[in-house]
Amino acid sequence: MKGIILAGGSGTRMYPVSSIYSKQLTLIYDKPLIYYPLSILMLGGIKDVLIISNAETIPHYQKLFKDGSHIGMNIQYAVQAAPNGIAESFILGDSFIGNDSVTLILGDNIFYGKLDFLYNGIKNNEGATIFGYRVTDPERYGIVEFDHDGNVLSIEEKPKQPKSNYAVPGLYVYNNDVVNISKNLKPSPRGELEITDVNVEYLKKKKLKVSKIGRGVAWLDTGTPVSLLQASNFFGVIEDRQGLKVACIEEVAYNMGFITFEELEKTIANMPKSDYRNYLERINRD
Ligand code: G1P
Repeated sequence: MKGIILAGGSGTRMYPVSSIYSKQLTLIYDKPLIYYPLSILMLGGIKDVLIISNAETIPHYQKLFKDGSHIGMNIQYAVQAAPNGIAESFILGDSFIGNDSVTLILGDNIFYGKLDFLYNGIKNNEGATIFGYRVTDPERYGIVEFDHDGNVLSIEEKPKQPKSNYAVPGLYVYNNDVVNISKNLKPSPRGELEITDVNVEYLKKKKLKVSKIGRGVAWLDTGTPVSLLQASNFFGVIEDRQGLKVACIEEVAYNMGFITFEELEKTIANMPKSDYRNYLERINRD
């Protein structure tokens, strides 16, 4: 299983900061936003990750994650020249994906809680596995309509009259067919290769599974200044209460067996003095 993080988009809702750097580098409490989706892929057992972003931002990610070997990963990078849509990820990632299946996560999507939905999705996927999460503002998302037996009737991108309150979060598990499906898509009226059109294709072939995520999991939005503040507060409260960090990728790498104790020590030794380093040193001692 390969992983892709799409950290693209123009991020204009975050203006003025969007004119100098990308939203996915913004601090969520104590670490850049992109650490959260990266840690989700890692917790799913995925070691090969392609980060896709615009040409100006890629060097920042390269500085942050290098080739990933210090956290036992293989991290590669690709440029999306213009915001041509989420499904373009699979065209840009064609050679990286090879003959494998792939999990895509959007660089601004945060999940917190019991991740069984993800583990099961990755383990049992045959065609496409996507998720459904109840929200109060369905017109902002891809929306799934279910019948009384829980079968999927339709999926629509940002419908004006949503047929349900179940949004599709930016986390998608696909078999290798996704590459060809994406190559055959036509741009939508807003000029993008829509991920919803990919999912509709799988639905037509009866190869789409939508698994509902329960209320015990937080899927946080980070599209606006207020939602960023809410996400920071959310993780600030949890980390402060427990004395444990969320999405600390070096800790996750060690817990997942991606790196040994000695490798973790070496990685810590290369960090400047900071709360982040103090935390890892403490965890390491414990
Ligand atoms: C995108 C997808 C949408 C999905 C959402 C999740 O929306 O197009 O289907 O529900 O991500 O974050 P966008 O980022 O274009 O608003």
